[in-house]
Amino acid sequence: MNEGERLTELAKRRGFYFPAAGSYGGAAGFWTYGPQGAALKDNIEDAWRDRFVVREGHQEISAPDVMPEPVFEASGHLDGFDDMIVECAECGATHRADHVVEDATDIEEAESLPNEEIMDLIADHDIECPSCGAALAGEPVENFNLMFETNIGPGSSSPGYLRPETAQGIFVEFPQLSEYARNQLPFGVAQIGKAYRNEISPRKSLVRVREFTQAELEHFVDPEEDEPPLSVVADVELPLYSAAAQQAEDGGQRDLTVREAVDEGVVASDWVAYYLGVAKEWYERIGVDMDRFRFRQHLPGELAHYASDCWDAEAEVDGDWIEITGFAYRGSYDLDKHADHSGEDYTVFKQYDEPVTVERPTVDPDMSYLGPEFGGAAQQVADELAALAERDPDAFDGDEVTVETDGEEYTVPVAKTGFSVEEITESGEHVRPHVVEPSFGVGRLVYTVLAHAYSRDEVDGEERTYLDLPAEQAPTTVGVFPLMDKDGMDDLASEIAGDLRSAGLSVTYDDAGAIGRRYRRQDEIGTPYCVTVDYESIEEGTVTLRERDTTEQKRVPIDSLTDHLVALSQG
Ligand code: GAP
Repeated sequence: MNEGERLTELAKRRGFYFPAAGSYGGAAGFWTYGPQGAALKDNIEDAWRDRFVVREGHQEISAPDVMPEPVFEASGHLDGFDDMIVECAECGATHRADHVVEDATDIEEAESLPNEEIMDLIADHDIECPSCGAALAGEPVENFNLMFETNIGPGSSSPGYLRPETAQGIFVEFPQLSEYARNQLPFGVAQIGKAYRNEISPRKSLVRVREFTQAELEHFVDPEEDEPPLSVVADVELPLYSAAAQQAEDGGQRDLTVREAVDEGVVASDWVAYYLGVAKEWYERIGVDMDRFRFRQHLPGELAHYASDCWDAEAEVDGDWIEITGFAYRGSYDLDKHADHSGEDYTVFKQYDEPVTVERPTVDPDMSYLGPEFGGAAQQVADELAALAERDPDAFDGDEVTVETDGEEYTVPVAKTGFSVEEITESGEHVRPHVVEPSFGVGRLVYTVLAHAYSRDEVDGEERTYLDLPAEQAPTTVGVFPLMDKDGMDDLASEIAGDLRSAGLSVTYDDAGAIGRRYRRQDEIGTPYCVTVDYESIEEGTVTLRERDTTEQKRVPIDSLTDHLVALSQG
């Protein structure tokens, strides 16, 4: 078994995750988190909320999973959220064409290649259908939109889509959200919620699924003025695998501090560099192994339609690099699109400290002087003159002014245009914010943290499997066991378990089987501490406290046990 298979076996056996609706044969790409997995996922989400929302001073919202079609027309998902698909003529199986190429060749990131090139590669490399082995050469490579479509209400007049990213739920609400932020940039809005993609080939359990949880932050900034608090993370070391390094023959990963990455221009946006630093520390906190981790910059052809720069956080499992987070500089792309499509105001009004007087050049709004010689072009000429006055008032310095519309030039005497320069007082200006977006896939984080925590050693001559999860992330913090289910040990153990639960710790009570087996069960789900109640507990008022990774045991007074464990669980 490879690492991923071992993990999936443990995940099913110990209640982390398993294929959903198995009694009915299930459907690929849908997974249920069992009790341990749901607790681990919650803990990762809580840690994310703590670092990226609370400590950054951002706000969190919860938008609907289903949104009407115009939202996705505007966002570009309806037209462009496609993957390449190839269908086997022999067995009818459909496959993601770029993955088929990547699996059969040493080409990486084939998704950035055009469909025709993928078809040529399939033919050149005699690539076979992964399901039945028939040749795929000659089959067309087509685009497949990944959004799940539905109808809102009866009938089909109001199509809707399950959101493919939580981000759009934030962007569409920008006019309200900026009011709640009192129109003060910068401000950040976060959301943890489900996203849905009808992936062509779901694979590697939680890694590529059709329904998954994203934790996304959309940070709205004034590109002219706002700067991140770089000093907070200036010394954090980033393992950076830049686009240039990927393209250079002798290129490779470089470790640079956040400050160096910004000064050397390796990470172009200070805001992106800031979040890489914050995230690097956070990954360490939740248990990602930093020896199996890197930030990889997108190659130019790989960038999403909305991004001008993007870095992925990647974690290695089974020799493959898994994208666990994307850090994108989205510019004003999304707000521009929603403003254009909805006609609403997607700007922030930036109040000046003092009102300023500005000159506003105008032309006479009554353009009736543009007589019959202008034919049907009179209105366009009038519009061009008005635009030119705003753009280049010097053009009105001479006796005549020339504008062009529909390839024709029109010359008008300046005196006739009514050109004048008014002085007006302005109290502020409308700014379209730019967006910096760290976007985390929670399922992939669960998978990575479990894979990196999976450990084996030998205890008392027997092989042991345990998860060395950080205490903050572990689904269960303490296992409480009565040595035997009698002589008051059971009552005392129940009382201790109750006290620990009242202190907010997650506790499992287990009185079944030999004590060694009970330890192993907790080791396999990553429980960092176990408490055993024995005869000495009743006589002396102490219990055995056993630590997961070292298996060391010590006696601790029952009186101080709760405080002791609360302190340990908080690191
Ligand atoms: N709003 C930006 C966005 O959605 P993305 O790179 O497409 O960007 C962000 O997705 C993260 O969501 C990824 O880094 C990954 O962790 C996770 N993700 C994307 N597709 C996924 C899938 N099919 N299954 C599991 N996680 C996925």
